[in-house]
Amino acid sequence: MRLVFFGAPGVGKGTQAQRLAVQERIPQVSTGEILRESVKQGTPLGLQAKGYMESGKLVPDDVVIGLAREKLTSQECSRGYILDGFPRTVAQAEALDRMFQETGSPGLDHVVSLDVPNAEIILRLSGRRSCPTCQTVYHIAHDPPKREGHCDKCGGALVQRADDKPETVEARLKVFDQQTKPLVEYYQKRGLLRRVDSTGDINDVYRRLRKILGLAGA
Ligand code: AP5
Repeated sequence: MRLVFFGAPGVGKGTQAQRLAVQERIPQVSTGEILRESVKQGTPLGLQAKGYMESGKLVPDDVVIGLAREKLTSQECSRGYILDGFPRTVAQAEALDRMFQETGSPGLDHVVSLDVPNAEIILRLSGRRSCPTCQTVYHIAHDPPKREGHCDKCGGALVQRADDKPETVEARLKVFDQQTKPLVEYYQKRGLLRRVDSTGDINDVYRRLRKILGLAGA
């Protein structure tokens, strides 16, 4: 199964992708996570990406395309994957299609668009806390950890992401409208787009998602 999870910042792409990846035993490839880890480690990629990420802008296409290509052609992704946060521009989607042609891959099975109104997105992002060690995502009200401030899985101290400040969230939502939304038409034309109403409870969204993908246990 080769999937793209698509949607505005904070709609729940990471939350749903993490669950599906575990249940279906395929890797979740989050370009945002790879970039955040590179920033944390201070690698050349991280140094290049840091300023863009902190201001809510997209990292340049050539940088992100290179790292996505490296991941997707690795052994880890040979049985499929969930792309979380890539592609995010038409140039990235075209590069992905070229990569499929070059490698003889049959291409994507589905592009899942998670849809949530902006007012709800702002509430979700302001309450998000994540574990920098194992990347598990929580919400202080909707999906809290058992012990406040600590990850259920690894015990790590939870943090608020630097780009979840209100002014940066506003910038990220604008960038989504201007640079990423055109992908709806791109994938609709190719018959790949599946829309999932992602409002309401996390478990309900997961059930809807599995149903739309035709997976058992929906
Ligand atoms: P990235 O990390 O991809 O961020 P994003 O797309 O902005 O998405 P988020 O991770 O913020 O949200 P999400 O949809 O995963 O929501 P989540 O599940 O956490 O990218 C960060 C930056 O990296 C970009 O701004 C850019 O600079 C750069 N970048 C990354 N990819 C790039 C690319 N391809 N090209 C160029 N630059 C790139 O959920 C949010 C919160 O809501 C959580 O607290 C969660 O617990 C809660 N929640 C989830 N579902 C529900 C629900 N149903 N009800 C209530 N609460 C819920």
